[in-house]
Amino acid sequence: MSLENSFYTAPITSWINISVADKKRAMSTATMSTAGKVIKCKAAVAWAPNQPLAIEEIEVQPPKAEEVRIKMVSTGICRTDDHAIHGEFHGLNYPVILGHEGAGIIESVGKGVTGLKPGDKVIPLCLPQCGKCSSCLNERSNYCFKSHFNEPQTVLLDKTSRFSCKGKVVDHFIWTSTFSEYIVMPAGAVAKIDDRAPMEKACLFGCAFPTGYGAAVKTAKVEPGTTCAVFGLGAVGLSIIIGCKVSGASRIIAIDINSSKFEKAKMFGATDCINPKDFSKPIQEVIKEMTGDGVHYSFECIGSTEVMKAALECTHPGYGTSVIIGVAPQDAKITFDPLLLLTGRTWKGSIYGGYKSLDSVPQLFSDYMAGKFDLDGLVTHTLPFTQINEGFELLRAGKSIRTVLLF
Ligand code: APR
Ligand code: ZN
Ligand code: ZN
Repeated sequence: MSLENSFYTAPITSWINISVADKKRAMSTATMSTAGKVIKCKAAVAWAPNQPLAIEEIEVQPPKAEEVRIKMVSTGICRTDDHAIHGEFHGLNYPVILGHEGAGIIESVGKGVTGLKPGDKVIPLCLPQCGKCSSCLNERSNYCFKSHFNEPQTVLLDKTSRFSCKGKVVDHFIWTSTFSEYIVMPAGAVAKIDDRAPMEKACLFGCAFPTGYGAAVKTAKVEPGTTCAVFGLGAVGLSIIIGCKVSGASRIIAIDINSSKFEKAKMFGATDCINPKDFSKPIQEVIKEMTGDGVHYSFECIGSTEVMKAALECTHPGYGTSVIIGVAPQDAKITFDPLLLLTGRTWKGSIYGGYKSLDSVPQLFSDYMAGKFDLDGLVTHTLPFTQINEGFELLRAGKSIRTVLLF
């Protein structure tokens, strides 16, 4: 069996346990054979909305200047990908390769790339940090204007795609397209992580973990001894609980309409778990009664405008802060009583945890390697990449927190 093929079939643990010297040897052999060439590999292609993804053989072009080609090792399945499958993501063209929460190893680099080399373990960033736009130049913001909120990241910076399948051009998704064995990304949107990184969990740093954890520690800046309410206990909500706990919150109230999520929430630090279905009154009233006048901080990580309002209302009227993390359906609108804010509440949003991605991911990863937090429980299912549609079924049935697909 060739070395290249052994990457597909070797159990992930054996890949992690081989020595660094072995890994370097393996990578240099692999890259010598593929650098500068078109690679044929497997990818999950969305040919049209509302269909299962199709595992296809695709062609991946070599990286152009300032780009890198990455051999993916793992990818998580996030709710946002499911929204995209259902056509609920602005500006997508078909066919497209979805996926935005991945971890991989640099296979080759284009001209002019410095700071990344074949063999580096990396996270493709679903939120870029161009370093030049007015947000990137302001230390208070991470909302890069190159992000998909501003520009459709369906092609790379030269406005072309590096993917094709059956003679058709296939689009990128948020540049990342992690549902492919190989991807090409602008080098500036790729973060290098620790050489010792356990790659089957590292993918969580592509979306869920920074998004949730940062919402608590960076956007809300949760303080010791405070009370928090977290609405929605997917991987994002649970990562918020991790952030609240690390910040020293004294009470963390976890809310979900699916009570099977409560065990994990408690494991990560929730002190109370409540299901809105168990109460006849609105959940914000229940939380206010539990906490006197309302919580210091609340977080919405579902994407429901009704829950966003409930999360605002359950905060203290004079000093509460509520953070929106969930992505609402396209064209959703909220109406609310402005008195809710007039008395002193703060209402904020948070993307990618407020982190400037390129600057923050390596540090966040080092904190993880140093044992500052434990993410083990976030991954409930691990499947081979080709079983991707099964992974989506688990998400839709509310049975998984994160399913990680291994290539
Ligand atoms: N009240 C309380 N909980 C709810 C409600 C509701 N009305 N509706 C759904 N939930 C719960 C679900 O039961 C589920 O446990 O919210 C949780 C959401 O988890 P996931 O679907 O796994 O979502 P996740 O991947 O964590 O992402 C959350 O952040 O990045 C965005 O697009 C993403 O909007 C999504 C949000
Ligand atoms: Zn995501
Ligand atoms: Zn920018």
